[in-house]
Amino acid sequence: MELDEFIRVNTVVEATKLVPEIPLHLATELTPLWHATESYLNQTNIGAPFWAFAWVGGQALARYILDEPETVEGLHVVDIGSGGGIVSIAAAMAGAAHITALDIDPVAATVCRLNAALNGVADHISAAEGDAIGYDFGQFDLILVGDVCYTRGESEDLTHHLRRAAAPVLFGDPGRQFMPRKGIHQVATYTVETSQEIEANPFTEASVWRMVGL
Ligand SMILES: C[S@@+](CC[C@H](N)C(=O)[O-])C[C@H]1O[C@@H](n2cnc3c(N)ncnc32)[C@H](O)[C@@H]1O
Repeated sequence: MELDEFIRVNTVVEATKLVPEIPLHLATELTPLWHATESYLNQTNIGAPFWAFAWVGGQALARYILDEPETVEGLHVVDIGSGGGIVSIAAAMAGAAHITALDIDPVAATVCRLNAALNGVADHISAAEGDAIGYDFGQFDLILVGDVCYTRGESEDLTHHLRRAAAPVLFGDPGRQFMPRKGIHQVATYTVETSQEIEANPFTEASVWRMVGL
């Protein structure tokens, strides 16, 4: 089965309550994607489908961008850990000049392209496979980070790398354990309904944070 077809068969097109403007190919309790991926993995080397959810940190950041479009208007933006692309799509809808959706998972790029097309913003988004740690952010005016701080070593390395970037950085995060706590300023908070497949509670708070000097 081709990857596009696998994604279409194993997801449903739905929007989250916090970001109803952006339908996405998502896993729901009705689509046993994790199990399907396990068997597909044996044949194709595909990993856990992070791209099949709109993560709460990404939802918060997308909501903020849609409500405050001047945050991205006319800018060249990179969306780190773009997954299914909710943050990139919000930035495109809000008027960013161009968005690079960067994810270490090669499947994410395909899903992001499908979701961008679904939302009519494919021309504004380039989906790329790559590691954000060590990535050259010199060409970007703004760096967006939606819910990427979920392992200690990687979060520390990413934060260290982002602190050396010239462009401003906005995080969306529910306050996960490994999110940076110093040198960030909270700019908005939302209550987000979660997918019970991936989060412990039915609702959680997620915030948008701006990285500031230490
Ligand atoms: C929890 S998901 C969030 C996806 C999306 N931003 C959202 O909010 O729905 C985290 C994503 O970060 C990606 N990721 C993790 N480490 C990365 C790295 N070093 N460079 C680029 N992407 C990374 C994962 O592959 C995954 O798609």
